[in-house]
Amino acid sequence: MTAITPDEFRVISNYILSVSGIFIGEGKEYLIESRLQPIMHDLGCTSFSELYHKSKVDPKRIIEKKIVDAITTKETYFFRDIFPFEVLQHKIIPDIIDKKKSHNTTLSTIPIRIWCSASSTGQEVYSIAIILKNLLIDTSKYNIQLLGTDISNAAISQASYGRYNKFEISRGLAKPQIKKYFNREGDYWRIKDEIRSMVTFKRLNLLEPFIGIGPFDIIFCRNVAIYFTLDERQKLYSKLAGILDPKGYLFIGATESLTNDTPLFQPKKYLKSVFYQLKKIELKKKDK
Ligand SMILES: C[S@@+](CC[C@H](N)C(=O)[O-])C[C@H]1O[C@@H](n2cnc3c(N)ncnc32)[C@H](O)[C@@H]1O
Repeated sequence: MTAITPDEFRVISNYILSVSGIFIGEGKEYLIESRLQPIMHDLGCTSFSELYHKSKVDPKRIIEKKIVDAITTKETYFFRDIFPFEVLQHKIIPDIIDKKKSHNTTLSTIPIRIWCSASSTGQEVYSIAIILKNLLIDTSKYNIQLLGTDISNAAISQASYGRYNKFEISRGLAKPQIKKYFNREGDYWRIKDEIRSMVTFKRLNLLEPFIGIGPFDIIFCRNVAIYFTLDERQKLYSKLAGILDPKGYLFIGATESLTNDTPLFQPKKYLKSVFYQLKKIELKKKDK
C-alpha cells in the first residue's frame, strides 16, 4: 500500500474538508491510505499528490465524488435507535395531521413533508416510509413528500434501487416486516414498490446552499454532523433552521447534542426520545 506523507495528508485532508465538511484529524492517515488506495489504483496514480492534482483538474469533478464516496462512513440500519421512530408514530405524525386538518379544512390532501438529510443507503428513510404506510393506511389522502439525500453517489444509488443483502436486511427489521415490505431477489431483498414510490432520492451536499427543497415538517439529520468541524456544524444548523417549518421537528443522532453548536433549537423530550424544535423568537415591542 502506498504510504501518505505528512504534507500529502495535510493537503488531502483539507481538500476533503472543503468539499464535504468531513474533518480527518492527525492520526487518521491509515483511513485516507486504505480508503483511497482503490481509486489510486484505478487511476494509475503512484502517489497521493498525483491523485489530488488529478482530482483538482477534473472538470466534471468525478474523481472528487469518488474520493467523497470512499471517505464517507455510511453505517446505518433500519429503525436505528428506535425511539425517534416511536415518537414519530405515536405523537408527531398524528399531531401534524391534526393541526393541518384544523387549520385548513379545505385541503383535499394533507401535506406531510419529511427530509432525511444524510440518508446513506436508504434504511432510515424507508423506516419512516414504513411507519407512514402503517399509520396512514390510505396514503392517497395525504400528500407525502419524503426526501432522502446524501453526498455519496454510491449510497444514493443503492437507496434508490432499494436492495439489501442478508446482513443489511437483518439489522433492525423483524421477519414479518421483511415479508411485508420486501421482495426476495436471490441473496437480496428489494423494497416493494408501494414503499419505494413514497420516497424521492437525490444527491445533496449539506455544505452547499439548500436550493429548491423545503420547507419541511420533519428533518432527520442524524449521525452526519459528528464528522464536521464546529464551524460547519454551526452553519449547517442555521441552514436547517431556515428550512424547517416554525412548528417543525428536528432529529439528530442519539449521541449528538446541539447545546454547544446552535442557540436556535430547544430540546423536547417525549417518552424516551429527544427531538428539537425552533426556539420562538421574541419580537421586540417596536417590531410588533
Ligand atoms: C453514518 S451515516 C448516517 C446515516 C443515517 N443518517 C443514520 O443515522 O443511520 C452518515 C452519512 O452522511 C453522509 N454525509 C457525509 N458528509 C455529508 C455531506 N457533506 N452532505 C451530505 N451527506 C453527507 C455520508 O455519505 C453517510 O451516508
